[in-house]
Amino acid sequence: MNETISTILRRRSVRVYRPDPVGQTELAEMLEAGRYAPSAMNQQPWHFTAIRNPELLRKLEENCRSAFLESNVEALREVARQEGFSVFYKAPLMVIISGDPGALAAQYDCTLAMENMMLAATSLGMGSCWTHALMMFHATEKGKSIFSEIGLRFPEGHQPYAAAVFGWPAEPYPEAPPKKADCSTIID
Ligand SMILES: Cc1cc2nc3c(=O)[nH]c(=O)nc-3n(C[C@H](O)[C@H](O)[C@H](O)COP(=O)(O)O)c2cc1C
Repeated sequence: MNETISTILRRRSVRVYRPDPVGQTELAEMLEAGRYAPSAMNQQPWHFTAIRNPELLRKLEENCRSAFLESNVEALREVARQEGFSVFYKAPLMVIISGDPGALAAQYDCTLAMENMMLAATSLGMGSCWTHALMMFHATEKGKSIFSEIGLRFPEGHQPYAAAVFGWPAEPYPEAPPKKADCSTIID
């Protein structure tokens, strides 16, 4: 198996992080990997916001947790009620990829860019985890106003399509959860 495929298979959603920051070099490489993702008509309708500021991360986390607590999905409410639970898993870095909703396929473009970043992080020995609470929170009126209150602004007209936390795993990578095998059709 080549190195790229082995990295793809090794990537896991990591939910326990060491507090050590992600360095400038690693972050720059991950952002570069994101920027090289494919995009519809090569529009690249994205903007990458990388947050390493602990105080901003704390404020954002507190507010995003409320999106889980107020969700109509019982499973999300239940995890968010657990003592010590953090929707960002106390990771030292969050990346939000926002996009221009007027682009041809902004959500796909931003999601592909985020997967590139997650794979780059894996190749550097880092962990990552998609953080859906951020999009859920931003979709609410309260969320939008709190984003601007805490000083988190995207380029004019942009909305966040992908968000993930990154950092150094505090434990060995978790085992892969069950992956469906019977989900492809090959037509020769
Ligand atoms: C669209 C999407 C939303 C997700 N939201 C969350 C989330 O809010 N919190 C979380 O811990 N994991 C989240 N995940 C990660 C999934 O739980 C994880 O990918 C899945 O369980 C498979 O595990 P693996 O990534 O280790 O292969 C999300 C993944 C995707 C693709």
